[in-house]
Amino acid sequence: MMINKCLFPVAGYGTRFLPATKSMPKEMLPIVNKPLVQYGVEEAIEAGMTTCAMVTGRGKRAIADHFDISYELEHQISGSGKEARLESIRSVLEKGVFTMVRQREMKGLGHAILTGQSLIGNEPFGVLLSDDLCINDGPGVLAQMAELYNQFRCSIVAIQEVPHDEVNKYGVIAGESLKDGIYRVDEMVEKPDPENAPSNLAIIGRYILTPDIFDIIRETAPGAHGEIQLTDALQTQARRGCVMAYKFKGRRFDCGSVPGFVEATNYVYEHFYRED
Ligand code: UTP
Repeated sequence: MMINKCLFPVAGYGTRFLPATKSMPKEMLPIVNKPLVQYGVEEAIEAGMTTCAMVTGRGKRAIADHFDISYELEHQISGSGKEARLESIRSVLEKGVFTMVRQREMKGLGHAILTGQSLIGNEPFGVLLSDDLCINDGPGVLAQMAELYNQFRCSIVAIQEVPHDEVNKYGVIAGESLKDGIYRVDEMVEKPDPENAPSNLAIIGRYILTPDIFDIIRETAPGAHGEIQLTDALQTQARRGCVMAYKFKGRRFDCGSVPGFVEATNYVYEHFYRED
């Protein structure tokens, strides 16, 4: 069974990048010459998730424009050597379908995903947080997870080992290790104190979710700052049925933070940038 849709929660304020994100979505910040969200869309399309469902918010119109044709630009550079620079986005536009809904109040990642229900319907779907830029020599992280879904048919979260003193920035899991890098989740905690954390296995911004998650999110009480946490809903799903955690192959950069963003920029510049 193929997973065809991927949800992109892109409604957050991106306060860590102010003032850059005052009038520009943080997802449009470029790593070298490509916006963060385009890296994410390319990863989803590679995994076969060609319907990209964006949960946007006020001030995020640039994202919708990016995934549409700019006739003026096409006309201006048509026949010139500059056309090559549009290749990657043209290819994305050829393969992908882009749907949007607005989250009117930023009530957390769980709420953003619930807002996307109308774009997803009743089928399993991917979720990609474009702040997390993942790079792998082989298949991308979502493609790895889509393959795993065919084996387990339940929600899957991507995890990574992080230093113990950094667990309070993440959702953290504990569970039984089934085989190399695959765990059945028993417990999940959002941003635990390092002393009380069940492990140092941190959830990063890639998920495959089964659609029963929507009803579970609806039942989930808001936590800190009135935000509905996806981690709390996933904990319920794990208790009632099954959630798997997967230690993905590849490198991940936390581009939601300034140091991670700079690290990703240097890495992409060194490994992928070609001047023409
Ligand atoms: P973050 O916790 O990184 O928040 O959200 P943020 O607002 O984007 O960034 P900072 O912390 O202020 O710098 C994690 C992901 O969830 C999305 C964000 O867009 C980001 O991809 N999100 C979060 C929403 O779409 N809606 C929300 O209500 C909250």
